[in-house]
Amino acid sequence: MLIAILLSGEHPSIPYSEVNAILKGEEVLFNEVSRFDQLMIINGGKEIFKILEKRGAYIIEGGRLIVHISNISDLFYQCNNIDWSFLEGRSFGVRVKRIKDYWREVSSVEVERKLGGIIKKCTNSKVDLESPEVWIRGIITNGGIFIYECNFMTNRKKFVERRPRKRAFFHPGALDAKLSRAFVNLCRIKKGEKFLDPFCGTGGFLIEAELMELEAYGSDIDLRMIKGAYRNLKYYGLEANLILADARKLPINKVDGISTDPPYGRGTSTKGRSIKEIISNFLEEVKGILRKNRFMCIASPREVKIEEEARKKGYKVHEIHIMKVHKSLTRSIIVVENYEC
Ligand SMILES: C[S@@+](CC[C@H](N)C(=O)[O-])C[C@H]1O[C@@H](n2cnc3c(N)ncnc32)[C@H](O)[C@@H]1O
Repeated sequence: MLIAILLSGEHPSIPYSEVNAILKGEEVLFNEVSRFDQLMIINGGKEIFKILEKRGAYIIEGGRLIVHISNISDLFYQCNNIDWSFLEGRSFGVRVKRIKDYWREVSSVEVERKLGGIIKKCTNSKVDLESPEVWIRGIITNGGIFIYECNFMTNRKKFVERRPRKRAFFHPGALDAKLSRAFVNLCRIKKGEKFLDPFCGTGGFLIEAELMELEAYGSDIDLRMIKGAYRNLKYYGLEANLILADARKLPINKVDGISTDPPYGRGTSTKGRSIKEIISNFLEEVKGILRKNRFMCIASPREVKIEEEARKKGYKVHEIHIMKVHKSLTRSIIVVENYEC
């Protein structure tokens, strides 16, 4: 079946990679069909709905694609020719969302009204705009309008509830919960597998990993951070394996995935070493810890050129995402494989 996935517009590339990484990590059979602005079409089975709903950070909702109409003038003609019988005996609601400024000449309210009328005429189903049994969603984006049955929605409020300032222990270096979750997802790891954040700080990545039922390990060179991470995990009723250790000499056995945000040499402590030196030694150390052909997601200020360092150490660089944080900090987030042919 073709599945439409509505993505957040907060970053131009991470949301698409997150979908791919979650499904590859969970070893689900699927293939990507096409990408549009904030919308992705994939081919796969309905088990995908639950997985994306539980794990997604930059994934908003999605479901079975009913029709893709690329030409405005065909819109109502095509909708009249769809078999809507799957809605027979169920209440439904129609909501249309426009991404940016696409198809400005079409009124989304008008499309909602007309589409609702067509479906009602074809099925005799009841319209319910409060809590229908089925939401029919129309997304207007650069490829036209995509109409799908909304089969899952992620809970976006949860990330706000877990923002760093709401936790028991706060430190300014902590990333927000949504981005922390995306980092964990990008290392393509499956439920039950062993996950490591070797610069764990306040434990933001460990919280997200534990909530996704990974076996989480975290280490940090600073005892204050280890204690803080423990308190933060406990605050959400979670536990992880916490270790006081230098990431350049890790007392940890094999892991299935690593996601981490090393110090930037700004607010966070580097204990007198340059960031480049720490990252270079860390990449060397972790070659023997991350299982072969498994993935690591790691960030650093863009000028560090972490992708070059990773290549020098024999990793295969799969993705580079650029994220502007403020005037003087642009972050590179890379996904590498501990490659062995
Ligand atoms: C950017 S912060 C990590 C933030 C974390 N993602 C969070 O949610 O709080 C970087 C962390 O690396 C730690 N660190 C610095 N040098 C280290 C080293 N050589 N080994 C392990 N941890 C180190 C710092 O103590 C700091 O907590």
